Amino acid sequence: MTNKTLRVGIIGCGGIARHHHVPSYLAVPDIEIVAACDVNPEALSALQQMVSTVTLATSNYRELLAMDGLDLVSVCTTNDMHYPVVMEAIARGVDVFCEKPLALNYAQAREMYDAASERGIKTGVNFSHRRTPAAQLVQEIMASGALGELYHVSAIYAAGWPGYARRPGTWRNDRSLAGFGGLGDMGSHILDMTLWWLDTEITRVAANLRTFVPERVSAATGEPMRVTTEDEGMVLMNYANGALGYLCGSYTFTGRGYDQRAEIYGSEGGLMYDQQHPHLLQVSLPEDLLAQYTILEQGGTRDRPYTTILVPERLHGRLPDQDTARRTILMDFIAAYRADGPFAFSPGFCEGLRVQEVLEAIARGNEEGCWVDLPLQTRNGHDVAEHNGKEEI
Ligand SMILES: NC(=O)c1ccc[n+]([C@@H]2O[C@H](COP(=O)([O-])OP(=O)(O)OC[C@H]3O[C@@H](n4cnc5c(N)ncnc54)[C@H](O)[C@@H]3O)[C@@H](O)[C@H]2O)c1
Repeated sequence: MTNKTLRVGIIGCGGIARHHHVPSYLAVPDIEIVAACDVNPEALSALQQMVSTVTLATSNYRELLAMDGLDLVSVCTTNDMHYPVVMEAIARGVDVFCEKPLALNYAQAREMYDAASERGIKTGVNFSHRRTPAAQLVQEIMASGALGELYHVSAIYAAGWPGYARRPGTWRNDRSLAGFGGLGDMGSHILDMTLWWLDTEITRVAANLRTFVPERVSAATGEPMRVTTEDEGMVLMNYANGALGYLCGSYTFTGRGYDQRAEIYGSEGGLMYDQQHPHLLQVSLPEDLLAQYTILEQGGTRDRPYTTILVPERLHGRLPDQDTARRTILMDFIAAYRADGPFAFSPGFCEGLRVQEVLEAIARGNEEGCWVDLPLQTRNGHDVAEHNGKEEI
């Protein structure tokens, strides 16, 4: 275990950098955020107000990555910049913790993964919801094999605020900046979680993506902007273990706030996860496994078939001496980074690439109106490079 002070840079100083990355770094000892970069001076200055150790504040990510003695960089820009920033970091030997989705498309993600692997760069991807206590319990139950032969997975991650159709347009509505809309933004999280829970691969997808609001008023310019990303994506999936899946990633659940739910059923049991109840799980489990958990409401009746169990304290991720703060994926990454022996961490670029490949298959299935097999292949048998009708081999 090394206690060397890690020198960290943050590239992209918007919402996720200031509300998630900075607090995570500040909560662990022996980290110094020494550099920050944003093309928006207000975002850069807001981050500097939070962190006293920044000695380089710049609008040029190359300048930041050229800094002497930089160990690690958080990549928190809009999605279009993940690829160029990460590739430059890798070329300079700087380790990377990158926001999701990893890239705009599979070709970029593949290059990022290959380059990082070749250079021995330590990578993490912020699939942050894996740290929800109930999600940790789902993982524990799934790993026990208690559900038996798996039949069904349905999973939703949707957001929706009042007056959805009238909300201003942002970079998330522009495909050249975001790659995907509701499906890639929200759906990438739940796609990663279901793959993590099931510990298998997706072998086939069919998809339906829809943009309901084709034009918005740009928040940045006040001018009308064409919306080029999907508001909602729905996907049917086959898993390698035989299960069938349904997934929805969307912005269209008007008035619902953030809605992240999943249900998994197998020959011996089932479970229902709802992120709005992060310390509970509804389950139907074999007696011996159920006995290991604290029961809040006993099920097994016609009116209440499911039993509600409490997520054990050990999975809450509470931080010592803090009432509400929870461990984050970034804190787990730092712990792995400091650990003795070979670096091992998940979710890294491997998992980011896996999600990107499924997103690509989904986009292709939607465009062509057909099922798409995974792993991806071009029509003449090589790996696919890019969706959107611009395939490269
Ligand atoms: N893991 C999660 O739960 C989660 C949640 C929200 C956002 N995200 C991801 O985080 C990333 C940022 O999202 P956000 O909500 O913070 O968006 P945001 O718009 O608040 O911030 C993005 C920032 O990147 C900056 N930027 C753009 N181009 C740049 C460049 N060339 N150099 C430096 N800075 C640049 C912008 O000026 C902006 O300040 C996205 O990839 C998004 O998908 C992840």
